[in-house]
Amino acid sequence: MDLMTAIKERRSCRSFSDEPIEKEHLEKILDAATWAPSPLNAQPWSFIVISNSEVKKNIFTEAERSREQGVQKSGWGWLGKYRMDFLMSAPAIIAVAGNPKKSGVDQFMEEGARAYEHACAAAIQNMMLTAHALGIGSVWFTLFDREKLSEILDLASDKIPLALVCLGKAAADPTPTPRKGFANKTTYIA
Ligand SMILES: Cc1cc2nc3c(=O)[nH]c(=O)nc-3n(C[C@H](O)[C@H](O)[C@H](O)COP(=O)(O)O)c2cc1C
Repeated sequence: MDLMTAIKERRSCRSFSDEPIEKEHLEKILDAATWAPSPLNAQPWSFIVISNSEVKKNIFTEAERSREQGVQKSGWGWLGKYRMDFLMSAPAIIAVAGNPKKSGVDQFMEEGARAYEHACAAAIQNMMLTAHALGIGSVWFTLFDREKLSEILDLASDKIPLALVCLGKAAADPTPTPRKGFANKTTYIA
């Protein structure tokens, strides 16, 4: 699959079949992640591949808690109806954790480390595009409290969980999501 096709065809998948992901495919996805750019090539990411049902259930419970908090604070009706069963049905979830000490020079600046999050985001995009090219659906998930997810995953204190990438064969056609195009999003300084 060529790059532009993968970029334009990939859609978030929130309904997975229970078909497991082949080890070879999982490793291709993880390998693609590691080719993302990063500050000083510090490669601030680490990956935790989760297929354990109990851990998925714990993640789901934390996501539900965060969702309910979000409903209360935002008053958003759609969030009350948002179902996250895919956290339990996805055959694999890759947690992406970042290390702020591997963030390049910005960790010494006033605003503190930020670039490591950008690098992890680039790694996630590489994963999702690779998954799509392999016929595997994915969704980038962030509705959780980072401290609580750290506890669930038993992460070392230098690692911050930034996202969960849920992976599996799509059980339904993903919802189309239009784009606004770049013309109104772009200005030029010539
Ligand atoms: C940083 C980030 C966080 C996201 N968090 C969530 C999430 O918590 N739950 C979810 O269902 N989708 C999440 N998404 C997926 C977006 O909803 C989705 O990418 C967007 O609606 C565009 O749809 P598409 O991916 O199908 O093109 C997230 C995406 C990004 C980039």
